[in-house]
Amino acid sequence: MPEIAIEVRDVTKRFGSQTVLNAIRLDVQEGETLVILGGSGSGKSTLLRVMIGNLRPESGDVIAWGKSICTMSDEQLADYRKSIGVLFQSGALYNSMSVADNVALPLREHTDLPEETIDIMIKIKLELVGLREASTKMPAELSGGMKKRAGLARALALDPKILFYDEPSAGLDPVTSAEIDELIIDLNEKLGVTSVVVTHEMESAYRIADRMVLLDRGRFVASGTPEQMRDSEDPLVKQFVHGLTHGPLTDRRRGGQYEVDLLGGEV
Ligand SMILES: Nc1ncnc2c1ncn2[C@@H]1O[C@H](COP(=O)(O)OP(=O)(O)OP(=O)(O)O)[C@@H](O)[C@H]1O
Ligand SMILES: [Mg+2]
Repeated sequence: MPEIAIEVRDVTKRFGSQTVLNAIRLDVQEGETLVILGGSGSGKSTLLRVMIGNLRPESGDVIAWGKSICTMSDEQLADYRKSIGVLFQSGALYNSMSVADNVALPLREHTDLPEETIDIMIKIKLELVGLREASTKMPAELSGGMKKRAGLARALALDPKILFYDEPSAGLDPVTSAEIDELIIDLNEKLGVTSVVVTHEMESAYRIADRMVLLDRGRFVASGTPEQMRDSEDPLVKQFVHGLTHGPLTDRRRGGQYEVDLLGGEV
């Protein structure tokens, strides 16, 4: 049996009256790359935020290496956050700081390491993501792909056990997107980190995934290896994974929803 790094147990999250995650259950296995798939608004980013301890669910729990993160004190949660790396959609760099300073930030905030050591660590992280030459550049001087790499170097600063990526290839050209995928695979292999990647791009998902999970409107639909998902007979999985123009996802949009919305009836 593979070791479980993170276990999502019946997580339900609401915003107002909207149930954005509905009793989601899934495991992230140690060392794997798990891809979370789903259409826009299906709850992927929300699930990621629950898993990194940014949002508390209304019910359910997230167990990370045997510990419940939903019941942790602020101090314990801060420790948990130090053991994970997160690459947000935009890269989330501080615009007033150079690339090197962005990468150094978690090290300066969370460790007592001397500056000379931090300098070496920055170089190692930037080398890992192929950005050593750009250490003195400011974020505004970077291309979209370089910003992702810099964000990734910062996510790696504290040697995380697990990396979370939200739409790592969104907004990138196909070649740069494939390069970021290679980097994700590389880091997984070289550093042995566990990865959770949120995306709706199937090509990218097939390149990187050991396993996939499909969400739809806050519900778990299916999970499996890339082959299992490719061969699935579930109409929803089939339509999403193969990008079909006909299926339950489009029928729903064409169905009575518009009239219901217009007339304000019960869904
Ligand atoms: N802070 C919030 N307050 C209120 N509603 C929210 C909040 N965050 C997300 N939602 C709602 O939750 C639903 C799921 O959003 P989420 O961002 O998780 O989707 P997603 O699957 O990541 O979509 P995308 O692929 O477009 O990024 C959406 O309907 C969204 O409007
Ligand atoms: Mg999202």
